[in-house]
Order: sequence, then C-alpha cells, then structure tokens
Amino acid sequence: MSPADKITVKSFREFKKRGEPIVVLTAYDYQTAKILDAVGVDALLVGDSANMVFYGQPNTLSITLEQMLYHTQAVSRAAARALVIGDMPFLSYQISPAEAVANAGRFLKEAGAAAVKLEGGVELAPTVKHLVEVGIPVMGHIGLAPQAVHKMGGYVVQGKNEKSVAYLVESAHALEEAGAFSLVVEGVAADAARKITRSVSIPTIGIGAGSDCDGQVLVTSDMLGIFSDFKPKFVRRYANLSEEIKKAVSNFITDVKHHRFPTEEESY
Ligand code: KIV
Repeated sequence: MSPADKITVKSFREFKKRGEPIVVLTAYDYQTAKILDAVGVDALLVGDSANMVFYGQPNTLSITLEQMLYHTQAVSRAAARALVIGDMPFLSYQISPAEAVANAGRFLKEAGAAAVKLEGGVELAPTVKHLVEVGIPVMGHIGLAPQAVHKMGGYVVQGKNEKSVAYLVESAHALEEAGAFSLVVEGVAADAARKITRSVSIPTIGIGAGSDCDGQVLVTSDMLGIFSDFKPKFVRRYANLSEEIKKAVSNFITDVKHHRFPTEEESY
C-alpha cells in the first residue's frame, strides 16, 4: 500500500463530494483493528464506548485519558490505511480550550491518532476552533451524546421536535465553521439527520440516524454479535461471534478434558 492510499481528513471531504459512503467502525485493540483495516474500513474510531464494551462499565463517563491513549496506541499500530480517530473522554475537553488542546495533542503525539472526536454542539465550537487552529483535526459529535446521559435523563433520541432540530442544525453549522472535518450524528430522527447532512459540506457519519448520512458507524462488537447483553434498534448483526466463540471454546474444553488435545503432531 502506498502512502497515497492512506485515508486522511481530506479524503473525508472527497468521499462526500463524490457521494461515496464512509465506513467507520470502533476498535480498541491491535488484532481487531488489523482485521478491520485490512478489509477496507475507512476510519477506526477508538470510542469511549470501550468503557462499556471493553471494561464492562454502565456508561462512558469514567474512562480516563490514559486508558483512551493506551487503546489508541494499539489501534494506531495496526492501521495501515484507515484514519485513526481518538475519542476524547468526559471532562478532558470541557474545562477549558487550553486543557482541551493539551489533552487532544496527546492523542496525536503519544498515541498515533490523526484526529480526535468530541461530543457537543454550538457551545463547543470555540474549543473546536482552538484545536483546529493548532493543527488537531476534529470530528464533532452531535445528537444523542452518551457523555450527557445524566443531563438527558437517559439515552434519548434527538431531533424529534422543531426546537431540537433547530439546535442540531445550528450546531452542525457552528462546528463546520469552527473547522471540524466531519460530524458523528448519533441517535437522531432520520428526517433531522437528512436535514443536517444537506445543510453542511462536511460529511456526517450516522449511528441510529437513518440512511441519509454521508457514512455510517457502528460499535464493532455490536455488529459482530460479540457484545450480546442488549441490541439497540439501529444495530444490524452481521455475525453471531459470541455463539461461534462459545462453540469453539466448548470444543476445546471437551478435547482437553478427554485427553484429545494436544496430539502428537501438536507436540514437540
Ligand atoms: O464511543 C463510541 O464508540 C462512539 C460511537 C458510537 C460513535 O462515540
């Protein structure tokens, strides 16, 4: 693969211009990231969803900057083509723009990411502007913001009334104006997501936001059926790996218990 094939934040705009949907998946570790990259996923998001999926926490709030950097380093080592985006954890960018720059910079300097993502609407635009001005590409994230779970009183779909749609469109404009290279649009009514997508020139990446966004992102363990505790409405399962893993491990247990593993060929 030549360096010209590497996906950059510039490629995102080109995807939107030529109407080619952008494929984004989450990754938290080297081996998964290597598979996703090899098969042609355009961007690997090291999401703070790792706190729930990888660490078993009830929400995304408690993951630390150090944990996010650790996972981003592993994913960056695997990504030959895909753009690696590090998700900024709760309270790593909200306190002040200066603190946001210092923390976001660590994703690029220490963890090999090419961009960061942060949640928030128009109120976050000055912070995004500051980050972009110092050379840190930013993906915005509007709509259902999991870091605001307590403020929203749960995981509540957004864009279902005029006021909410107006706020989302205003936020999308403000973030584009501030220099964000793309926007995750999460948990938003499909009509509102279409309106947002048509009103900005940067690509929107939807999750639970209908089919009219410029790209789609899913949590990898959801779409592979590894994380099977619950399945949100917007997830399509492309595999049932938890069942596959259970079968494989059961076979291993049986073989070991019955002295069928290892054989002579599997021994030195
Ligand atoms: O943390 C995450 O995985 C995310 C995606 C679901 C967009 O923010």
